[in-house]
Amino acid sequence: MSYVIRLEPKMESNKLFHLDTNIHNWYRFVLSFPPHLVKNYLNKFNASKDTLVLDPFCGTGTTLVECKKNGIPSIGFEANPMALLSSQVKINWMIEPDEIIEIAKNIEKKASSKIQKHKGNYLKLTHEQEKLLIKNSISPLPLHKALMLLEVINEYKENKNYNHLRLAFAKQLVNSYSNLHFGPEVGVARKKKDDVDVVDLWLREVVSIAKDIALFKEKENTYGEVFFADSRNVNLNGKVDIVFTSPPYPNEKDYTRTTRLESVILGYINNKEDLRKYKKNLLRSNTRNIYVSDNDEKYVKNNKRIMNLAKKIENKRIELGKTSGFERYYYRVVELYFGGIYRHLISLKEYLNHNAYLAYVVGDQASYFQILINTGSILAEIAEDIGYKVDTIDVFRTRLSTTSGKYLNEEVVVLRNS
Ligand SMILES: C[S@@+](CC[C@H](N)C(=O)[O-])C[C@H]1O[C@@H](n2cnc3c(N)ncnc32)[C@H](O)[C@@H]1O
Repeated sequence: MSYVIRLEPKMESNKLFHLDTNIHNWYRFVLSFPPHLVKNYLNKFNASKDTLVLDPFCGTGTTLVECKKNGIPSIGFEANPMALLSSQVKINWMIEPDEIIEIAKNIEKKASSKIQKHKGNYLKLTHEQEKLLIKNSISPLPLHKALMLLEVINEYKENKNYNHLRLAFAKQLVNSYSNLHFGPEVGVARKKKDDVDVVDLWLREVVSIAKDIALFKEKENTYGEVFFADSRNVNLNGKVDIVFTSPPYPNEKDYTRTTRLESVILGYINNKEDLRKYKKNLLRSNTRNIYVSDNDEKYVKNNKRIMNLAKKIENKRIELGKTSGFERYYYRVVELYFGGIYRHLISLKEYLNHNAYLAYVVGDQASYFQILINTGSILAEIAEDIGYKVDTIDVFRTRLSTTSGKYLNEEVVVLRNS
């Protein structure tokens, strides 16, 4: 099967709202695709106040923010609780800028005085929490101050601004308090931060959020909702007109690792069992979330291309004499990944309006013994098997793979529900 590969369409006009905002930046913008990509396709698909957009792998919320800025109703699904918090907060503009700043200033006073008066040992994480983190993710004094600040923020659990206050904390925790760097995998910087002005940085972050909200307040009533859900098993109340999303790719990237520090400190993941529970809801895209009981491969066992690809990877492993636990799982990632995509697409179908547009942003991969995985074209093939029409596969960008020296495409696979 072959498809016409085109370049991503140019921005058509100023149909959609262009005033740019920092909302994407409220938390970990780097994890996402660029907002202009969403805007271009929403334009192309004629999204409006009368259409419903779904992002079933909504991550930190880029699609939903773009929708809301443009008055387009939207829904998101996400299975990582930290990303879920981010997308929920980023589309909640029902808060009063002056009020949240006032609350933040009170917290700042209380936390600063608490930190100053504190005598004795620094606050620490439990042994179980520490075991979940990369060693030296955060130095003792910044951690102590961060935990004290969080204690005060937690006094506001019942307040409607609470999650905005926590997201500001999560962003500063990773960007300013911690020793982490991302490039693209998460690691610890050589130069550690021994002390940081934790409370002041957090206050500034809240003020910046408040300013963004002031800019977009008039759009606060546009519908947007995010659900904690496993998109391999879609369940919805209504019907959707447009899907725009970027699912994980089969590339060894462990999203629970890139968000680990904030997930642990905010209390989403307290031990290995919590971690496993969340990982089991994710599309299998890396060897760290493969489980013995996994069986999504059964949905694609008749797809020769996927089965041959898995076989090729496993044969290569044997040929190279590679025996590590991870390498033994490479072929499993491939079959389970596409099996999960199959489950997602088939369960989604009944919730789509006739002729609905779907766009999946995915990247080719060569992470497994440099064997090329044409993610977009395989996804298109699966979709066609299920009864979708493949509209186009647009190349969105190309990057050089450091391991294989090959150029790999990132593509937007556009489907129609027929
Ligand atoms: C490539 S990221 C999406 C990035 C997104 N465009 C953004 O703005 O941040 C893929 C997301 O899918 C989520 N995910 C993976 N498997 C999932 C599943 N089965 N159901 C729902 N979300 C899932 C991951 O946690 C991750 O946040």
